[in-house]
Amino acid sequence: MSKKVFVTGASGYIGGTVAVKLANAGYQVSGLTRSQSSGEKLKSIGIEPVIGDLSDLKLLTECARAADIVIDAANSDAEEAVKALVEALMGSDKVFIHTSGSSIVADQANGERGDRIYDESTQYTPDPGKQARVNIDKYITNSAQDGIRSVVICPCLIYGKGSGVKTESQQVPNLINAALESGVAKCIGRGENIWSTVHVDDLADLYLLVVEKAPTGGLFLFAENGETTFKQIVEKIKDGLGLKTPVGSWTIEEASQKFGAGTAIFGLGSNSRIRGIKSRELGWKPVKNEVLDDVQRCCMSLTAGSIAQV
Ligand SMILES: NC(=O)c1ccc[n+]([C@@H]2O[C@H](COP(=O)([O-])OP(=O)(O)OC[C@H]3O[C@@H](n4cnc5c(N)ncnc54)[C@H](OP(=O)(O)O)[C@@H]3O)[C@@H](O)[C@H]2O)c1
Repeated sequence: MSKKVFVTGASGYIGGTVAVKLANAGYQVSGLTRSQSSGEKLKSIGIEPVIGDLSDLKLLTECARAADIVIDAANSDAEEAVKALVEALMGSDKVFIHTSGSSIVADQANGERGDRIYDESTQYTPDPGKQARVNIDKYITNSAQDGIRSVVICPCLIYGKGSGVKTESQQVPNLINAALESGVAKCIGRGENIWSTVHVDDLADLYLLVVEKAPTGGLFLFAENGETTFKQIVEKIKDGLGLKTPVGSWTIEEASQKFGAGTAIFGLGSNSRIRGIKSRELGWKPVKNEVLDDVQRCCMSLTAGSIAQV
């Protein structure tokens, strides 16, 4: 009998790609979505939909108990949902994977370069704006003491075509959509800030590896393979969209108005440089390091999407 996996965020970019990877590997996958229409799409790609919201803690508890493996990929900051999933799994020895994000180590650089690089053992004090997410991650790894094979996977800037219902990521598509709106590809400040990057296919391989090899004891794993400045990304966006105007920049205030302060400060203007030492020790072998090449594909995909919507 194939093992049952319950995935939150199954209609999303990370969760969808992971759900498809697991279904293709022979697991029986069910996935949470709030919408009937996404539920239909999940069904058509072999994922059994569960219609509901992360705030429905009773539903989360039932789904977690019915599954052999639980993957949380809906929202890195949904504390109540995480607590419900952990409480449902206590004493079960089941694998529980939660998705965090490397903005936990982000600074407030406003487009300037930072040289600090973090691996899973690096001691640091997070920016106060990121403390809540760090607390959730620690709560999950500590839950290993309560009989859960708990693992936090912490990716950085994810790129590449997703294989689930939602095929595009967040940071690069946000910048492309803004450039499509204004006709100018922009970064924050000088755009010299650096983020680590990971291809979504390599990331999904790490989830599969953890599903099959999660040890007892709790693990926190960074997922990355390569890095780039935001200036390099927006130069590629300018070329990919065929824009004539040179790349421009936002102040952090302007970007905050456009994207919200959290995304502007920690997601676009910061440095977030990580190294997945423990993920590689577990046997993870990421093969792709091509974020700048993928910007072109993403520009074409989003341009086609915006034409289709007209
Ligand atoms: N993409 C990246 O580069 C990246 C990198 C690191 C960390 N992360 C973090 O990882 C998480 C997932 O990222 P993603 O890029 O996969 O996001 P995404 O594409 O927006 O997917 C998230 C999915 O979660 C579901 N969801 C959201 N709120 C929900 C709720 N209240 N109840 C039930 N389902 C809910 C949504 O499904 P429905 O709308 O169908 O309900 C959505 O499809 C986010 O917290 C993100 O910040 C992302």
